[in-house]
Amino acid sequence: MGLKKKIAGKRGKALRGKHAGRPAAAAPKPEKVASVSGKGPHFVGLDLGTVRSSIVTSWDARAYEESVVGWPKDVISAKTLGVGVMIGQEALNNRLALEIVYPLDHGVIREGAPRCEEAANILVKHLIDSTNPPEGDIYCVVGAPAQGVKPYKKLLMRMLRQYFANVLVIPEPFSVAYGLDMLQNCLVVDIGGGTSDICRLSGSIPKVEDLRSISMAGNYVDDQLLRLLSDKFPETLFTRAIVKRIKEEYAEITDREQSVIVELAVNGKHLAHEVGPELQRATSIILSDIMNGIRDEIATFDPDFQEKVRNNIILAGGMSQIPGLGEYIQNSLSDMGPSRVSVVEDPIFLGTEGALKFGMDIPPEYWEEMERMLH
Ligand SMILES: Nc1ncnc2c1ncn2[C@@H]1O[C@H](COP(=O)(O)OP(=O)(O)OP(=O)(O)O)[C@@H](O)[C@H]1O
Ligand SMILES: [Mg+2]
Repeated sequence: MGLKKKIAGKRGKALRGKHAGRPAAAAPKPEKVASVSGKGPHFVGLDLGTVRSSIVTSWDARAYEESVVGWPKDVISAKTLGVGVMIGQEALNNRLALEIVYPLDHGVIREGAPRCEEAANILVKHLIDSTNPPEGDIYCVVGAPAQGVKPYKKLLMRMLRQYFANVLVIPEPFSVAYGLDMLQNCLVVDIGGGTSDICRLSGSIPKVEDLRSISMAGNYVDDQLLRLLSDKFPETLFTRAIVKRIKEEYAEITDREQSVIVELAVNGKHLAHEVGPELQRATSIILSDIMNGIRDEIATFDPDFQEKVRNNIILAGGMSQIPGLGEYIQNSLSDMGPSRVSVVEDPIFLGTEGALKFGMDIPPEYWEEMERMLH
């Protein structure tokens, strides 16, 4: 059915990482490389996501991090931890001693919320530093949510211009399509943490009417699962981290009844909990809005090309790794005619790879013109 098939990029390589449906555990760790020489310009692709952020560079270094920053709660935690700030997974591992800030909400930096801009800045700087950047100018292409609003783009540009000589903001699903070199007659469905973005590609940079952002994605599923499980097992303390792990490990879209037994501590004892029905319910909650969005984007496309688009649906974002989701979308569209959904292999770096590729394909002298076109 074309699911989980290898989708090769223009450079002829299959995109990194074979996840067999479970990228959260299998994703590569941030890596460092020796600094390269040369004045540049050098290029980076950047993705600031609600849940995860990543960077890919023209000097072959890449890194990703959970989009979270934490400051010690008081002098005691500062002394115990021995640092002024913690970032990403390290912050989550020490979250009880930290004031935790998630700087992004629905794919955009939260404005006005305490410390969010500062946290986003720290996260960006951390990502750049972990790639060991070379001397010289660095040009950056960053993905923003499908319907990234103008003031947000301005904020993002202002922040990133501290670190980069030039910055372009492109729609996130477009960077996914660019990474796959599938820019014509296709539909990208990027189901992330904060938003589900749907984008039609017809051979040029997508316009507003080609983009749709639904504010229901992985975080919404986690919230629903937390609520359902806390109601079913009032004695058990569920946290967002626990339900997220359950979802990432066991979620599946199927019309069979699902039984998932997990062992969780209750009053100090480990007890078996049947979480299957709640998991199934929580995961399904976002599907009808996503399907409506997909249907609308197809139905309002030029009729001569609708069949092509239906057979060229790319499922991306962290949630794309849920087994059965591609088949579900395919089957749900059957009344419109046959369709084909392909699931990307590397939801973490595919968009950032595409953003980097886009940046490297634009001659440096055209960046200003491109900036006027995009922003
Ligand atoms: N193997 C998996 N199975 C199910 N869900 C997963 C898996 N891996 C990651 N996820 C979920 O995908 C979501 C994160 O996806 P992604 O990294 O694309 O989000 P993001 O880019 O940070 O968010 P956004 O684009 O909305 O700002 C989280 O809800 C996470 O729990
Ligand atoms: Mg994303």
